Amino acid sequence: MKAGGIAAKLRAWYDSSHRDLPWRRTKDPYAILVSEVMLQQTRVETVIPYYRGFLERFPSAENLARAPEPEVLAAWSGLGYYSRARNLKKAAQEIAAGGAFPRSLAGVRALPGVGPYTAAAIGSIVLGLPQAAVDGNVLRVVSRLTNDPSDIGSPATKARFTQVAERWLDPADPGRFNQAMMELGATLCLPHNPRCPECPLAGRCQARKHRTQNELPVKLRRLTPRRIEATLLLVERRGKVLLWQRPASEPRMGGFWELPSPDQIPAATGKILGKFRHTITNHQYHVTVRQATVRRIGDSFRWAGPADLATLPLSGTARKALRFCNTS
Ligand code: ADE
Repeated sequence: MKAGGIAAKLRAWYDSSHRDLPWRRTKDPYAILVSEVMLQQTRVETVIPYYRGFLERFPSAENLARAPEPEVLAAWSGLGYYSRARNLKKAAQEIAAGGAFPRSLAGVRALPGVGPYTAAAIGSIVLGLPQAAVDGNVLRVVSRLTNDPSDIGSPATKARFTQVAERWLDPADPGRFNQAMMELGATLCLPHNPRCPECPLAGRCQARKHRTQNELPVKLRRLTPRRIEATLLLVERRGKVLLWQRPASEPRMGGFWELPSPDQIPAATGKILGKFRHTITNHQYHVTVRQATVRRIGDSFRWAGPADLATLPLSGTARKALRFCNTS
């Protein structure tokens, strides 16, 4: 496939129809870093308000570097995968200590929480480096354009598809090329029912030619999520709810506040207030929220009123469970 043709068609399409996303309006490397870290495991629509709120609260790397960690976690609360927030603060400390944003791909990659994909995205968008940023969306686009049924779960396929994308890349504007590939995957080259008639590359798509677009990409070894049943207790007293805090030493969720579960505290349980699901990597929690009363509480517990609930870093499950509560 001719490389120049792909980049030129993609660019014309992207320039006329890309979504107006807030991080596409800035050239501030720190803001781009924040956006790319948020976008690592979270959908664009979810990220937008968090991105705005986070930058309002921590407008520069120096600012984030100085901020107390609980405040950073509170601003991240609801986005999940909190190690991202902790690493972002560490990255901000390194940037602030170095006096400037890194100027090489290796420098960007060395920042805490920045893997190969994020480094390529930031390197291309901020520094104009000719690196293809290849995530699941882009693997799908490449597999279809080349009609390649290799397993995209395999590192060898990822490496090969990355080389293909790098051959197509527009050296005049790698950041725009990468965002256009992401955009194509997110808006037209969809996993199910791709919108081929609207696609600027339909004429060059080998999968479309062979009518295999709905069978690609191939992904083997898909794990089914493990289902876990859990109960959380909503204990309300005088307009406050009972919470406990995970020890700071816990690797991922340390410092976060949670609702108690029945095996943690002797409680008299009442009616079911609601149910919800919460997915963390390969675990799907089916959570029942029950009203409960307690006699005594231990040291790790505290009563939290509405003002506390607005500022404490709450876990994702605590936030969902508190929707069934009158206090918050
Ligand atoms: N996903 C990861 N990076 C992105 C970006 N810059 N724009 C849209 N979606 C993305």
